[in-house]
Amino acid sequence: MEAIKRMRRLRANGTIRSMVRENRLSCTDLIYPMFVHPGIEPMVPIGSMPGICRYSLEAFGEALAEVVSRGIPAILLFGLAEQKDEFGSEAATDDGIVQQAIRLAKSLYPDLYVIGDVCLCAYTSHGHCGIVEGNRILNDASVELLAAVALAQAKAGVDMVAPSDMMDGRVQAIRKALDESGFEDIPIMSYAAKFASAFYGPFRDAADSSPQFGDRCSYQMDPANGDEALREILADVEEGADMILVKPALAYGDIIYRAKQATGMPIAAYNVSGEYAMVKAAAEAGSIDEKKVVLEALLGMKRAGADLLITYHALDVACWLADT
Ligand code: PBG
Repeated sequence: MEAIKRMRRLRANGTIRSMVRENRLSCTDLIYPMFVHPGIEPMVPIGSMPGICRYSLEAFGEALAEVVSRGIPAILLFGLAEQKDEFGSEAATDDGIVQQAIRLAKSLYPDLYVIGDVCLCAYTSHGHCGIVEGNRILNDASVELLAAVALAQAKAGVDMVAPSDMMDGRVQAIRKALDESGFEDIPIMSYAAKFASAFYGPFRDAADSSPQFGDRCSYQMDPANGDEALREILADVEEGADMILVKPALAYGDIIYRAKQATGMPIAAYNVSGEYAMVKAAAEAGSIDEKKVVLEALLGMKRAGADLLITYHALDVACWLADT
């Protein structure tokens, strides 16, 4: 008779478990999202996201010291508007808050990799990611503005742009705008498969970006759809995306997996605000071991196929990894 498969032979102790381990987390996987606001208030804590703040420009510069000292290679920058308007104009001005933050970060820490989120929702009075006409979010007119936002960030010295608006054709338009101005070497990380998710709730407190009417279902994806996510991803690759982002992450491991299998491109998983808030709330209630849960969740994203992890836990994770 065939011998039974004794899988536990390779689980007997920590040494052999480590030798056969297939996936590992590393500090170099991490991208830390940060929020900057135009006010003078140095730090405004986000109630639903313990440990996360919006920073004034000056406080942001100071906060970067910790990010860099912990060995986190990259940040993803979000800005808040001073004056919102229908077109989200401030997102694309030379002295818009994100552009200022990019210049500051690159002057303080030239090696810190700065990624700019490209969207309008924090800058528009109606809170949508594009221009609005009646109750419709206009695609093509929005794409033009988004390309201008990406260009403004490029001029400020950003290392990479990350469009999160989910308008059709924006990757192509951004690529064209960057190339025409001599920024052909700036890569695009496309939020190609971004779902209309309830997990973004706390972020909208942080960025003050809730839609003032309706929802984002006419441009973000239906959480029920996997094949469509693949079509979105392939379309963005064709338009010139250099990296693909899947968002949210926890409930979307299949999308991460399929994105990697189908494209072989570098894939980023966005461990979003609601995922962070749930872990923090459960940890504070004493229901889970925060460190173990966070590391397990992030490892799961890597196992699914993610190369990079955008996470609000990044500072903690960097410490935990340094300890092990
Ligand atoms: C802006 C944007 C959102 C997030 C990143 N960029 C929110 C949204 O689409 O409403 C969410 C990030 C998070 O929840 O951590 N379009």
